[in-house]
Amino acid sequence: MDAIEIEGGARLTGTVEVSPAKNAVLPLMAAALLAPGRSRLRRVPRLSDVRTLARLLEHLGAGVEFGDGGLWVDAARVPGREAPYELVKTMRASVLVLGPLVARFGRARVSLPGGCAIGARPIDMHLKGLEAMGARVVLEHGYVEVTARRLRGARIVLDLPTVTGTENLMMAAALAEGRTVIENAAREPEVEDLARCLNAMGGRVRGAGSSVIEIDGVGELGPMDHLPVPDRIEAGTFLVAGALCGGEVTVRGARADHLDALVAKLKQAGARVDPVKDGLRVRGDGRARSVDVRTGPYPGFPTDMQAQFMALMAVGRGLSVITETVFENRFMHVPELNRMGADIRVEGGSAVVRGVRRLSGARVMATDLRASAALVLAGLVADGTTVVSRVYHLDRGYERLEEKLAGLGARIRRIRER
Ligand code: EPU
Repeated sequence: MDAIEIEGGARLTGTVEVSPAKNAVLPLMAAALLAPGRSRLRRVPRLSDVRTLARLLEHLGAGVEFGDGGLWVDAARVPGREAPYELVKTMRASVLVLGPLVARFGRARVSLPGGCAIGARPIDMHLKGLEAMGARVVLEHGYVEVTARRLRGARIVLDLPTVTGTENLMMAAALAEGRTVIENAAREPEVEDLARCLNAMGGRVRGAGSSVIEIDGVGELGPMDHLPVPDRIEAGTFLVAGALCGGEVTVRGARADHLDALVAKLKQAGARVDPVKDGLRVRGDGRARSVDVRTGPYPGFPTDMQAQFMALMAVGRGLSVITETVFENRFMHVPELNRMGADIRVEGGSAVVRGVRRLSGARVMATDLRASAALVLAGLVADGTTVVSRVYHLDRGYERLEEKLAGLGARIRRIRER
């Protein structure tokens, strides 16, 4: 199995480029199922989550090809209707095929995802939304089977602004009969990107990016040729790296308008963050000031940046309270950071982080993607050598993270672990 080995203490300087967003690419790949034709997504990053969804699309009978020009999905014929347990358990985002399959073909059978490393994560709101649109939902043998002759537009009020739930319902509504209104919709830039793409395919979606999205269903959609939005979480991870390691890092592709909450916190913590052509530049100078953070749905502070920001606070000056409100169990990085000498205590939904002067390198591992990224960041400032194992978590959502950090001057490499 691969691991990442880091020799801490290097300053980071230079320019790094972010890839298109994993969490935009996944729903967009599912949206390709809506159109009888050959769709293209440009510059799709080589991530294992992307490969998992590609496998699922192939399992459904669509053609998938990776090339220099991007990722092609040929959904002219899609005979399959089922997302099997093996794929859904590897990646929950597999449930994104539900909306498109039911909308275009009237039937889908999807393994119900179980809990995962960061929380229970049910999909009840996806299903209630589809029911409101006239679908019949039956749960049997661990699978949900959803059928509808043709979905009908409906008014759907979400209990919580679920991201993939909003996306699933938006895709379903794109081919439904009449108007769907999703209230308390997720406002994430990836939702907006999906709406932009659906509209380019001939869909009629308004209001994405706000909490009320209106979709007028159409009879047919055409294939897409789309460049997904840059990955704000990858960008944020490099911004934190820059703030943590001193020096000056330019993150090309970082969109300031997608990173407001993080940038505000980085500035409060004493980092300089400035807009530059095509991106953001961060300058860290000495230990960060400790600041409190509370995660929330967009435009709040992203839960997907909570672990990485905690690595910065672990060596901050003072006391920081980091509160996680989106997922109930997303502090798996805490015991590992403590093994590196951090002083962090979890109390309910909050982590109390008492900044320490130095971390010391250790062998660590994480159980999810963003927690793994936090351990890599901690390794960059720790004394001595850190080895982060279970790199397959990182490879789900970061394209060549170690190469990109090495390009900034970090002493980091991928090794093979016995
Ligand atoms: N929820 C329900 N019922 C539902 C759906 C969600 O109770 O039907 C709850 C969840 O359990 C959670 C909260 O609502 O407590 C928000 O979850 P949401 O549905 O918004 O999360 P998601 O759509 O499953 C996406 C990202 C995650 C990211 C979250 C929150 C994708 C493919 N995944 O997940 O990304 O953390 O939104 O921003 O877009 C990651 O990239 O590392 C990652 C986990």
